[in-house]
Amino acid sequence: MMNNTILCGDSKDRLKDLPDSSVDLVVTDPPYLVNYRDRKGRSVANDANAEAVLPVFDELYRVLKPNTLCLCFCGWTALPEFTAAWAKAGFRIVGHIVWTKDYASSKGQTAYRHESAYVLAKGWPKPPPEPFADVQKWVYSGNRFHPTEKSVEIIAPLIKAFSKPGDVILDPFLGSGTTAVAAALTGRRYIGIELEQAYCDLAERRLHGVARFRQRQNASTDANQSGDDRDAA
Ligand SMILES: C[S@@+](CC[C@H](N)C(=O)[O-])C[C@H]1O[C@@H](n2cnc3c(N)ncnc32)[C@H](O)[C@@H]1O
Repeated sequence: MMNNTILCGDSKDRLKDLPDSSVDLVVTDPPYLVNYRDRKGRSVANDANAEAVLPVFDELYRVLKPNTLCLCFCGWTALPEFTAAWAKAGFRIVGHIVWTKDYASSKGQTAYRHESAYVLAKGWPKPPPEPFADVQKWVYSGNRFHPTEKSVEIIAPLIKAFSKPGDVILDPFLGSGTTAVAAALTGRRYIGIELEQAYCDLAERRLHGVARFRQRQNASTDANQSGDDRDAA
């Protein structure tokens, strides 16, 4: 079983290397199928190519353990296509999380001031004793690494709420690596898959930064500990 791995390539192919029932939680932010382009002209691969995105959910269902969840960010624009793909794969929608924004990211018939994610179940996972509130405050990432980057402050609380330390967290649309970074910071294992080599390299760099940060943390804990031991001796 792969652990703490970034795989570069198309998730439809790369997921085939993962065994059935091997993942504890999927957290993912797929292309929203809206042909997005930001003010700097940056775009998202496959954002107008449903055929490259939606079949991935069949593989996600296969690799998830029985009675587990997939947390999937999704806009309303292509919701009918996504809900059809989720149902075809075998997922049931068991929750909907909304993050409210202080600003409008776009405007149409309404000013767009929220983000949302769907909680999809494989089987019948037991609800937690203290469920995660389904309305949250949005934290803007600044989109420094990726045009549609999610902030670690949004992803880490989801991982903490829906998994336990040591669990395997999978993101098949990893982008700049946010889900893997949040998993590493919260003591979970990660598998991330991303199509674009530049984002795979960026994700690796971010994860090396996390590993160095954790080493420094452990070293200072050890130093304090041995100081405590000396004091105690
Ligand atoms: C919305 S972005 C994810 C951004 C990410 N949440 C972050 O914080 O950086 C979706 C990513 O999926 C990637 N992608 C699109 N189709 C893919 C596929 N079939 N397999 C793997 N990655 C894919 C795109 O290159 C893009 O980086």
